[in-house]
Amino acid sequence: MEILHIPVLLEELVSSVKIDENKQNIIVDCTLWLAWHAKKIIEKMHTGDIFIWFDADIRNLELAKNNLKGVNEEVNKIFINSNFVNLREELEKIKIKIITWIYYDLGISSLHVDEAERWFSFRFDGPLDMRFDTSTWFPASHIVNTYKEDALTKIFIDYWEDSGSKKIARNIIEKRKKWFKFYRTKDLATLIDETTTFPKTKTRIFQALRIETNKEMENLKISLKDAINILDTGGTIFAISFHSLEDRIVKNIFRDESRDCICSDIICTCKHKKQIQILTKKPILPSKKEESLNPRARSAKARLAIKC
Ligand SMILES: C[S@@+](CC[C@H](N)C(=O)[O-])C[C@H]1O[C@@H](n2cnc3c(N)ncnc32)[C@H](O)[C@@H]1O
Repeated sequence: MEILHIPVLLEELVSSVKIDENKQNIIVDCTLWLAWHAKKIIEKMHTGDIFIWFDADIRNLELAKNNLKGVNEEVNKIFINSNFVNLREELEKIKIKIITWIYYDLGISSLHVDEAERWFSFRFDGPLDMRFDTSTWFPASHIVNTYKEDALTKIFIDYWEDSGSKKIARNIIEKRKKWFKFYRTKDLATLIDETTTFPKTKTRIFQALRIETNKEMENLKISLKDAINILDTGGTIFAISFHSLEDRIVKNIFRDESRDCICSDIICTCKHKKQIQILTKKPILPSKKEESLNPRARSAKARLAIKC
């Protein structure tokens, strides 16, 4: 299957990977998909190094394996079909306690967007599911059919700050009172169309639901903290985000983990210890050339830190 995907900030990410010739490098890709970033990084690695891939969607791992066939066979490649929130425990299972480099290229794949079967596109009708990994948690329909009005409003506002949020949450509740259940993407898309004509609302509401369904923000926080804890001294962490909330999470965790104290007490009571040094005071942004070649890159921001 031929899938068009242009990796974002490829040069920036690959050039920041420093392979140490004197030790075993253990690199983790938390969001593998087609492995375009991975391919370039694996090519730089040495015999005996370990490259570990995570992707919550098993089909992505199969596509990536295809793309990586024959690439630097000297590197030991281990793939893990799991959410990156399970980073620490999945690595423990394979007896890896320390890693030398880790990166995240957050978000979904364009395959997900185009796939009506379980994804969030309202362009096609399909089950209202939206899970990266269908064996975990609940589908999006569970949220729309069971959350209270306040909770629905909160996720729509928190994740997309859309002005139609309150009205849409209220109308969902009104429809539920008439025993209506939302099972298809079309059910929700129709309700949004009946509530507002603002063109971006549907995209935003669907994205907010996807973020909630997959617990994307909570999982990112947990995973980033675990990643920093298991990084070797001198090891680096690189995160590319496409959503302002994701970038805020990366920025805040990097800020906290680069400080010796994170409490506001006059005499420190938190005993927090600095773990990393931030290498990007301002986020790395795609060049104008990259933006013009790949419109998806426009919202990308990357941050990089090194373990002290
Ligand atoms: C933007 S794509 C990555 C593209 C990849 N860097 C490349 O070069 O081809 C993001 C991928 O991360 C996966 N993903 C998103 N959130 C995840 C999570 N919490 N845990 C594991 N995989 C996740 C998605 O399934 C998708 O395949």
